[in-house]
Amino acid sequence: MTLELHKPASERKRAILQAVHDHLYPGRVLRLDRGGIDFVPDRREGYRYWDVDGRELLDLHLNGGTFNLGHCNLQLVEVLQREAPRCDIGNHHFASEPKARLAQALIAAMPGGMRYVVLTSSGSEACDVAIKSARFATGRRKVVSLAAGYHGRTGLSGAAGDDSAAAYFHSDYPGEFIKVPFNDLPAMERALASRDVALVMMETIPATDGFPLPAAGYLPAVKALCEKFGALYLADEVQTGLGRTGHRWGIEAFGVVPDMIVTGKGLSGGLYPMAAAVMCERAGAWLRDNGWGHVSTFGGSDLGCHVALKALELSLAEETLANVRTRAEQLRCGLEALKPRFPFFVDIRQQGLVIGLKFADRQHGQGMMRALYENGIWAICAGFDESVVQFKPGLLIDQAYCDEVLRRFENACIWLANNLFALTTGGNPPEDDPVLVGIRALAEDALAHWNLEGAPLKLIKHRENTIFRATAADGRSFALRIHRHGYHTDAELQSEIDWMRTLTRDGCIETPTVVPTAAGTDFVTVRHERVEQPRQAAPPLTISAE
Ligand SMILES: Cc1ncc(COP(=O)(O)O)c(C=O)c1O
Repeated sequence: MTLELHKPASERKRAILQAVHDHLYPGRVLRLDRGGIDFVPDRREGYRYWDVDGRELLDLHLNGGTFNLGHCNLQLVEVLQREAPRCDIGNHHFASEPKARLAQALIAAMPGGMRYVVLTSSGSEACDVAIKSARFATGRRKVVSLAAGYHGRTGLSGAAGDDSAAAYFHSDYPGEFIKVPFNDLPAMERALASRDVALVMMETIPATDGFPLPAAGYLPAVKALCEKFGALYLADEVQTGLGRTGHRWGIEAFGVVPDMIVTGKGLSGGLYPMAAAVMCERAGAWLRDNGWGHVSTFGGSDLGCHVALKALELSLAEETLANVRTRAEQLRCGLEALKPRFPFFVDIRQQGLVIGLKFADRQHGQGMMRALYENGIWAICAGFDESVVQFKPGLLIDQAYCDEVLRRFENACIWLANNLFALTTGGNPPEDDPVLVGIRALAEDALAHWNLEGAPLKLIKHRENTIFRATAADGRSFALRIHRHGYHTDAELQSEIDWMRTLTRDGCIETPTVVPTAAGTDFVTVRHERVEQPRQAAPPLTISAE
């Protein structure tokens, strides 16, 4: 089946999307394309991605923190290149120096009381190990986790996440995996009171639920309940660890010392898969008498350990944590300043650079993801609460980058205000839509530049740009295009107009005739009190069809 893409694409991009659709994940390709997202990453550097067709995006998704230190971080690439000629994955039965050094460094970087480390190749696998370990340590089977939690998609980790995903594959175990709402202490107490729970799995700030912050005292109280009822406490720090909150581990911001911490994503440096379950003496008890209780060919690969050691060092360096705090503050101020201007932007959830932007509802959240994409930012809605967009900047961002993020975010808000109706209904907004009313007033003013004052305007399309038909007193009609602010520079607009003129002059393709303003320019920039930003009004192009 030939893939019908919604946006124009080069042959190369089409071929890639077609092959991925045919052989990897058709459902994902189709859903993203329907949502207007057609990015196929090619070059990547720092916190930026370039599409195979050359389009640039700021990466505020970072694969959940995998690219905390940037894409292709040169210090990490250097470690990989230095070690690769003499080191490989290694043998998982043997001790090795890189494994030993990484384990020591992880324990040294943890809150007190950690003793053992199991190195794995994914966060899901590390969560599986944590569940097995707690079951062995307590002799109990039950696991309590959050109803909107995410711990991965392997068997055990998947069963510990939201029920629907596991049930879809008939892999849920409702009797053994008990779900409770976040921030609901009585529900947690009810779940633990039967004293048969092995493990409580907590994302410190649940990512896939849109980063709701723990209520004051909630996490310490959960830990106290675990102690009271004999369950172990796992802090899943796959998204909140490694400096993202401005602390080494998110849990440290809440004063809890867990029995186990799971980390992953950024530990890989974005270059070589690495994750870990780090455990206290009691949780890792099985490691003493069962040397092969968990075996993983790629887990703790020697080459990966070299990269992870450096990634850990860079992520937790005091200057990195200080940078996270400074940039978090800069972004907070910028976002707070924008919030009152856009009524659909309702809340900022933030702990350091762990940020969830809450919008009025699911449609606005989804629309915002598209709006960000159209304005050069890659960020996604939280899977379990699509009214929230996860905003995950990297640890090493600087002031200029944050300024650019804020500028693009502002443009995205304007884009959403202009396009939400079209996105949700596929049509134009009603004539009394406040955004449209403002743009119409601006367009009416703009007509004077072509001596067309008072010409009636009929809305043709309101998407990125807004196009009206202006009918002059002598019956001739023109298309007047009001451009979305910041969509094209003046130079780009001029280039488009010159190009159309050339095509018309050379008689290659029939294009609309460009009508200059009375002052002889090809377009004007117009302001109106009802429209927030100046808009370029492109020439009334004569249009052929009525
Ligand atoms: C909080 C959390 N835990 C665990 C995982 C699973 O990690 P992985 O995808 O490496 O298996 C993820 C992945 O997104 C996560 O966000």
